[in-house]
Amino acid sequence: EKKYDYLIVGSGLFGATFAHEMTKAGKKCLVIDKRDHTGGNIHCKKIEDINVHWYGAHIFHTNDKFLWDFVNQFTDFNRYTNSPIANYKGELYNLPFNMNTFYSLWGTKTPKEAKEEIARQIKHLNIGEPQNLEEQALKLVGTDIYEKLIKHYTEKQWGKKATALPAFIIKRLPVRFTYDNNYFNDKYQGIPIGGFNKVIDGLLAGCDLRLNTDFFDNKSEWLNAAEKIVYTGKIDAYYDYRFGELEYRSLRYELEVHDTENYQGNAVMNFTDAETPYTRVYEHKHFEFGTQPKTVITKEYPVKDAQNAEPYYPVNDEKNMHILKKYQDLASKEEKVIFGGRLAEYRYYDMHQVIASALLKSKNELKNE
Ligand code: FDA
Repeated sequence: EKKYDYLIVGSGLFGATFAHEMTKAGKKCLVIDKRDHTGGNIHCKKIEDINVHWYGAHIFHTNDKFLWDFVNQFTDFNRYTNSPIANYKGELYNLPFNMNTFYSLWGTKTPKEAKEEIARQIKHLNIGEPQNLEEQALKLVGTDIYEKLIKHYTEKQWGKKATALPAFIIKRLPVRFTYDNNYFNDKYQGIPIGGFNKVIDGLLAGCDLRLNTDFFDNKSEWLNAAEKIVYTGKIDAYYDYRFGELEYRSLRYELEVHDTENYQGNAVMNFTDAETPYTRVYEHKHFEFGTQPKTVITKEYPVKDAQNAEPYYPVNDEKNMHILKKYQDLASKEEKVIFGGRLAEYRYYDMHQVIASALLKSKNELKNE
């Protein structure tokens, strides 16, 4: 008889949600994480009494009432609404592209005028089926928005020319013909009051936890530590990279503390010109309407050599998906190990999606007993 029913590798949102459901069902869970903190990428560090989103800005949003109620059981959420500002060489525009943006650019006041202006800009371009990101963007929003707000920002992010990027990346570009600066379309949105750590702490209550503990430092022993394993790390790492490494796009963050109460007046500012080396500046206190005397900002830089950096966004192109398939074939044969979360599934998940996935997998697990 083993001491634990489940060993959960990774205390991110997937691992923590799974652990919560299992603990609730009376199972004994041990959660390990190689980092010195829980929460994976939603972890916040307190600096100057401000919750700093350590791995990039996180805003919870969902259309699903059940998931909204689920996260609200750990702490109430505030009314934060994501409305980034774009800064192009000192000119400021509202995002996502909407009537406010169009008015600032062209002085157009009605949806009809704005649509006519976009149509006028793309008429002579004769774009058929878009062959790359540039053509796709031009077709959706015209030349001005493309030049000022999309082209350089995207090229900085990807380190590639917009003409060399596939069109699908930008297929769902949010464009609105209303005066609505809310970036997300979802019904529910906000930041947990007290920060994301509150949610993670609530999820992990009642299970055992060991930080600074890398599964691979002692793989064979860990494999015997519990009846079953839930693994939320990189799937290629689990199989010793035997079919090759899966690629990720990464980011680098530089933190600054400023001795001012309010630095940029908004939580998120995108720098859309080519000259500014960073892509975004976050001012963390604004996620929580903070009134602290100082402020903490983070500059976000794209990373060129992503292989040794923090893995953030999977690159789901043909080459990587082919490699992934081989790992998935091995994973599907495992009897003791459940793979879940963004790294083990090599999939971009928003927070609400990763919670939904963990809830479903834990439910299936309990059903199959
Ligand atoms: P996550 O990576 O969080 O957790 C995995 C854990 O496993 C980590 O703690 C890691 O240390 C641990 N681990 C890995 N290997 C291990 C090993 N060998 N041994 C022990 N432990 C190991 N979503 C959203 O809804 N709104 C938003 O605004 C954003 N913003 C955002 C910005 C950026 C820059 C990114 C990259 C992502 C977002 N997201 C987001 C997505 C969000 O971050 C994501 O959905 C969750 O963090 C995924 O949780 P997981 O548990 O899957 O992975």
